[in-house]
Parts: sequence; C-alpha cells; structure tokens
Amino acid sequence: DPRLTRRDVLAGGGAAALLIAGGRPALALSTPATLIEARAGSAQLLAPGKPSTPVWGFEGISPGPVLRVKQGDSLNVHLINRLPQPTTIHWHGIRIDNRMDGVPHLTQHAVEPGASFDYRFTPPDPGTFWYHPHERSYEQVARGLFGALIVEEREPPFADQDLVLVINDWRLTGDGAFHEKSLGSAHDQSHAGRLGNVLTVNGKPSLEHPVVRFERLRLRLVNASSARVLRLALEGATARLIAIDGQPVGPTSSYSGDLVLGPGNRADLMLDVLGEPGSAIVLAEISKGRLELGRLTVGRQASARAEPVAAPIALRPNLLSEPSPANALDAALLMEGGAMSETDMAVTKRPGPYWTFNGVAGMGEQPLFAARRGQTVLVGMRNATAWPHSMHYHGHHFRVIARSGGGRIDPYWWDTILMAPREEMTIAFVADNPGKWMIHCHMLDHQAAGMDTWFEVGG
Ligand code: C2O
Ligand code: CU
Repeated sequence: DPRLTRRDVLAGGGAAALLIAGGRPALALSTPATLIEARAGSAQLLAPGKPSTPVWGFEGISPGPVLRVKQGDSLNVHLINRLPQPTTIHWHGIRIDNRMDGVPHLTQHAVEPGASFDYRFTPPDPGTFWYHPHERSYEQVARGLFGALIVEEREPPFADQDLVLVINDWRLTGDGAFHEKSLGSAHDQSHAGRLGNVLTVNGKPSLEHPVVRFERLRLRLVNASSARVLRLALEGATARLIAIDGQPVGPTSSYSGDLVLGPGNRADLMLDVLGEPGSAIVLAEISKGRLELGRLTVGRQASARAEPVAAPIALRPNLLSEPSPANALDAALLMEGGAMSETDMAVTKRPGPYWTFNGVAGMGEQPLFAARRGQTVLVGMRNATAWPHSMHYHGHHFRVIARSGGGRIDPYWWDTILMAPREEMTIAFVADNPGKWMIHCHMLDHQAAGMDTWFEVGG
C-alpha cells in the first residue's frame, strides 16, 4: 500500500516527499513537517457525565497539540484547513519573519477551506508562546482554535516537571453547546467582549495533576480567553515568576500570590513542592470570589530526594535591543469608543464598529506609524474608554516606561499589555523586525469591532 500514514510523513525522509498521504499532500522538505489540521472536534469541557461540546481545534482538540522546539531549531508546520471558513495561524509573541506572522490581508492570503499553508521559521527567543488563527479570531479562537508553542532554552533551568497550563473561558449553553447565538453580538463588541461561563485548564473544568514532594515544577500559564482577564492565585506553594510573555524577568522579580493575565498574556512560574503527601497546590481564579481551576496533588509515594533542589532558577535574558530615547519616533495611540463613554448610551442600537484608534476603526490604508529599522519607537497610548483592553503588538516586545495613576512599572518585556479604563501609558521598543505588523486589542470582539491597526518597519 503506497499510501502513507501521518506517522510516516512525520518521520518522513526524502522518499515520502512526492507521495500523497490519504489525500494529504506530503511535503518535499528536508526537515519533516508537523501536519496540523484545523478542524471540528469535540471536548469534554463540562464535568464528566455532562454533555461534551462541539469545538473547532487544531487537530480537532482544544487546546491544540503543544508544539515544542529547541532554541535555534526551526518550526515547520503544514497547516491544512478543514474548517468551513478561511483561516491562518498567528504565532503570538514570536519575533518572527513577517511572512510567517499569519495575518490575512497584511502578511499572507487566508488559507481557504481545503487548502494548506507551510509555516517555517526559527524562533529567536526561548520561552512560552502560543498560536491561534488571525481570521475571524473572535469566532475561531472562541470555538477552541489555539495551542501553546514552547521554545525550550538550550540549557533550561532544572525542573522535574514542565507543565503547560492553557486557560480558556468558554461561553456555552446549558447543554454544553457552543453559544452560537451571541457570537459577535453588538453587546459583546461594545462592552467587555465575549465573557464566558466555563473556565478550563487544558480543556478540563478541573485539572488534576500528580506531583511528588520536593519536586521542582515549572508552570507555563497561557491566557487564551477571548475577553476574560484572569487574576490567578497559587495556594499551598510559593512560586517565583521567571518570565512574562515568553521573556525572562530577571533574577530579582518575585511573585506574591496574585498574578493578572490579560487575554494573550503568559507567565512562567517556578516552584518547589513542599507540602506533605496528600496535600495539594491549588490554582484558583480570584477576580470575583474564588474559583478552583486545578489541583496539583502531592502523591504518597516516596520522594526521590529528601529536601528541595538547590539549583538556581533564574533564566538568562533573551537578546532584545534596549530602546534608546535619542532620535526615537514618537507615536500616539488614542483608544476611543464603546459603551458608557458615548453621550448616546444606546451604543448597541447602531451597527458597529464601536471602537477607534486615533479616530479610525479597523485597519486603515496607512500604517499608524512607520519606523526605520532599528529605530526606537515610543507609543503614548491613552485608553479613553470605560473598558480594559489587552493591547498586543506583533513582531516585537516592548517595555512600559511611563504609566498614569501610579500603575506599577515592571521591568518586563511584554507583547501584550492590559490597560485599565482611562489609563495612559508610554511603551518603548526597538523596531528591529522589518515588515507590516498589527497592533490590536486581544479582547477579540473589540478587535473585530474596530480595535486593530498596523505599523510598518522599513527593510
Ligand atoms: Cu494573539 Cu494578533 O494576536
Ligand atoms: Cu479591547
């Protein structure tokens, strides 16, 4: 039988190159590609025994497969679109080659149903990233299309377990179906976005994972929610924050039990399991009351060691260029619109778009700003709305250098920053990645209703 299984293709040598695998075009590539289908599937998002939920997922599961590569290795993904609408993959947080950024109409054509696209790139930074479509993301991500992308350090700090925890907020009907009727509703678009009613970790309503006393754990948290800001607490352990948005935070940063992740943000934590056998470390969402998301239960088996490990836990910083204010390009981004900020309170009575950046709704013909390659860019962002927004810049990480209202200025590199209602901040980055890059709110209904624009970096 000359047909190839997926395994053959994954293991694929040159011999596989020109054959057709079960209707899938095999690849003529020197390095084997990972095939990823975007397609319908189902997930047990509610407690066992309750109905399952029809989802869209990479490989039909949500979250999709965790993609892991080593720093310096290339990622080679053959996306096949089995959805009823066009799609793409955006590699969130990767300082990527612009052609691989996955933004329809800006960096590539959307991948039509039945068609495929090869994403090939070498991520420059180790860290915790994620991938999701950038076509109708308010629908496709909300239906479950997302997954984690882990770029491992060449010499990772010691950890017994490296746990990827992808958190998502779903809006389901009472019988577990995806809530279709409210998809892209005027209310969600003009208010907080599509807030859900079921929170899952790795697609489970209550994650359980075994750990052993004195183990060291690395937790990689991803907020894949379409609109939900997560305030997370880790109970029964003291964790150190080691990275934000994939970038190391430096050895002095600590974490005091309360971590806020806007949609799109990630955090890496390191901790030692100190509790007695039978106890648990609990991950909880504490924005309103306390909702338990998952539990790491300390097993009763004997530990491999008699005390916690002494290995250092800090990460080496990645090689990002430090912004320098001399000759910087000064840009402004004024965020306006939405409910409760217009004199007409009946905002949802009119059709969208409901939001603007500098008075323009959606992707204009002209970039918001154009920078020379290597130029430092300062963007003064002002949230003149009554809502929080999770502002994401493609292709670059930035620092916050000024912030109104006494908001804390962290020495981190972010790719997505949560802005409070009425907040102002100035961010700074070196525009060292040529191409056309989006800026948008990662509350995906806001993005769909006007909160997206782009900037250009010269070659
Ligand atoms: Cu995670 Cu433009 O998106
Ligand atoms: Cu927003």
